[in-house]
Amino acid sequence: MTLILGIETSCDETGAAVVEDGVRIHSNVVASQIDLHARYGGVFPEVASRAHIEAIAPIVEQALRDAEVTLADIEAIAVTRGPGLAGSLLVGVNFAKGLALASGLPLVGVNHLEGHVYSLWLIERESPVRFPVVCLIVSGGHSEIVLITDHGQYRQLGTTIDDAAGEAFDKVARLLGLPYPGGPAIQRVAESGDPTAYDFPRALRGEGYDFSFSGLKTAVLRAVQEPHSGKRPPKAESLTPDQLRPGVNVADVAASFQAAVVDILVEKTIQAATAHGATEIWMAGGVSANAALRATMSARSPLPVYYPPLKLCVDNAAMIASAGYFRYAQGFRDDLDMDVRPLWPLTTIAQEAGDTVG
Ligand code: KG4
Ligand code: ZN
Repeated sequence: MTLILGIETSCDETGAAVVEDGVRIHSNVVASQIDLHARYGGVFPEVASRAHIEAIAPIVEQALRDAEVTLADIEAIAVTRGPGLAGSLLVGVNFAKGLALASGLPLVGVNHLEGHVYSLWLIERESPVRFPVVCLIVSGGHSEIVLITDHGQYRQLGTTIDDAAGEAFDKVARLLGLPYPGGPAIQRVAESGDPTAYDFPRALRGEGYDFSFSGLKTAVLRAVQEPHSGKRPPKAESLTPDQLRPGVNVADVAASFQAAVVDILVEKTIQAATAHGATEIWMAGGVSANAALRATMSARSPLPVYYPPLKLCVDNAAMIASAGYFRYAQGFRDDLDMDVRPLWPLTTIAQEAGDTVG
């Protein structure tokens, strides 16, 4: 039995977890900063890194305590190295380095997107995984369709050319006067809305596997804003709820917007998966918590569809520990001079990662 301690601080959740053999969670502790950031309507980097500094030591201690282990039982420390906010990543990476130095344990740097992929290894399954699989990774910062041919082997089939799906949810929520984070808020409001009320654009439909969400955001803005007399209409991000056109049905707008995002995510993922001979479709990242996305993907896909439980969709350290375990098992180790990588494409990690292969 190999126990990995995982640490995650790439954005606005401070996480620590203990995972056995990459697949069994012994503990998974997450301190969310959502309340701190809600007042800014988004993640405020300076506030995020300060909050990580305060939370990290107690969170790691609690993860060890919940798992009823000490560092002596741990085989390696896995930490998110990127992509993410530099100041936030630094807190986790420096803490992990300190622990590694003090304990003599090996250090494994993990790509946050690979972490999201490995949240799929933490779920109960009836049959073993057979590669290749196609994973839709949709979060606040990323929207990617990735072909996975083996552990650590990724090919990007599609990505967003502008906003990430979660970012679109957050921005549209803000212009509808809904709270941050926007995804859960829009999902809630959309339940009582008509998804066919507005015919919002499905961008790049039938044109490969890339996404574009900024036109959709603008279309929502046009649909809800007061007719504007000035030369320049306000940007979606700067619209305030009192500028909403009177009589706008927020539930209908939310439901129609959500349907447009879901349609395009589902359509392109299924096309990519069938074209590349995938055995199943995976979904990961915060937006994969969306109930409409889950239901629509499962209903339309000819292949089996898997997604993690809600707690493992959003940022957490169990997925980092799992990804770290499989890297560790493949011989990857990082040195104590490991740097953070705020921009770190998933597809490059097979060739370069770890810097040392034992
Ligand atoms: O993976 P995550 O926790 O953090 C990043 O790595 O970005 O994803 C956060 C994103 C936010 O944009 C949030 O609005 C979105 O996931 N999200 C949702 C839902 N729950 C969270 N989007 C749509 N529907 C949801 N139920
Ligand atoms: Zn994430």
